[in-house]
Amino acid sequence: MTLRQRCDHVNALYSSISAQGINPYFRPIAKTWGTEVEVEGRRLIMIGSNDYLGLSHDPRVMDASAKAVYEWGTGPGGSRFLSGNMVLHHQLEERLAAFVGKRGAVVHVTGFSTNMGALGVLVTPADTVICDRENHASIFEGIKNTRARLVTFAHNDAAQAMQRVEAAKASRPDGDVFLITEGVFSMSGELAVLDELAAIKEAHPDIIFYLDDAHGLGVFGRGGRGAADHFGITDKVDFIMGTFSKSMASIGGFIAADDEDMLRYLRYQSRTQIFSAALPAANTVAVLTCLDILEREPERVDRLHEVTMRMRQAYRDIGLRIGNSASPIIPIIIGSDEKAFQFSRALFEAGVFALPAVYPAVPRGQALIRTAYMSTHQDRQLDFVLTVLDRLAREFGVRECDMVAEPGQACQDEAAEAAGKAKLSYL
Ligand SMILES: Cc1ncc(COP(=O)(O)O)c(C=O)c1O
Repeated sequence: MTLRQRCDHVNALYSSISAQGINPYFRPIAKTWGTEVEVEGRRLIMIGSNDYLGLSHDPRVMDASAKAVYEWGTGPGGSRFLSGNMVLHHQLEERLAAFVGKRGAVVHVTGFSTNMGALGVLVTPADTVICDRENHASIFEGIKNTRARLVTFAHNDAAQAMQRVEAAKASRPDGDVFLITEGVFSMSGELAVLDELAAIKEAHPDIIFYLDDAHGLGVFGRGGRGAADHFGITDKVDFIMGTFSKSMASIGGFIAADDEDMLRYLRYQSRTQIFSAALPAANTVAVLTCLDILEREPERVDRLHEVTMRMRQAYRDIGLRIGNSASPIIPIIIGSDEKAFQFSRALFEAGVFALPAVYPAVPRGQALIRTAYMSTHQDRQLDFVLTVLDRLAREFGVRECDMVAEPGQACQDEAAEAAGKAKLSYL
């Protein structure tokens, strides 16, 4: 396909959804209060943010970041390799390593560039990389540049991952074998089967086990120490990668490990680290302050789970299809891309901000609305969201029972519906 054809394809899609008034992307937010935002003059409840602990609007984080700007300026002035390296970065690396239970860490300027940079130099063409099929784009992009052999396993299927590991070791004995998963999957909200994957590492200690815990950090484990801590398998993971763009109220990323030689290798070789400007002081201090807060106030994480459990149960009571979500990310499975765009627009008009995820972010025909909750959501906001979802789920026919009913005869089981309603305390 030529460049012109590729442009035409994307532009046709853009024109089609824009003409129908259902284009949900790049919608400019005019104001934000964290759990609420203003868009096109409407005030909306935000249920699409990864700021799971609501710390980006915590006055302590904001004050510390603002102060850092006055102490350090707004930009770093260079890459960490050269003139942009600050003592703050080293403090942050020590704190992060201690937080996730590793000896050291290397901070990068985004989570995406952490995966790109780290995988780009850890993996060589002789190696085999075994990935969960639903891993994030930054992992696949990171591997692409290495020309290693990429092998995927069915999502969360540890038995298949084990077969792939054994086959790779047998067929390519000269290369290393990497096993890579996310801790919490960013679209489905599912937890990885880390205990089962750690057993593969136990059986084959020479493989390299790499965990992207972008959505587990601050959410799972003791006081938010992450998905590996949650499963008690931190010592089995060779590299824990995390981002600051979710619970850590900033941007940036890090990779933590016990092997200090490998960390030094990464520090001096990761191309996205040495050829990209350093993380600005304000962002670095924001993360340091979040770590202070998390260490002092682990109850924030408990509140997040309370909100999440309530919403997950309420979604089920409404009859929404939410897959195997186990985290603050709760997808609403809609089906067709077009219906998902329309559902998102209807949410917007009703005062709720949540975006659709369509192919290729999710498998074809499984378009969903990605909802995500924060520990700072108030009960009245959650009640409002549930009332809207209950109404729209009926209007759009996206409840579990709609899938089995005859067309036009959706969810005729009045008794079941009445029972469902009785459970919905907000109605
Ligand atoms: C699993 C996963 N890894 C990596 C990233 C990239 O992180 P960042 O947005 O901090 O660049 C994301 C971002 O959404 C993610 O979901």
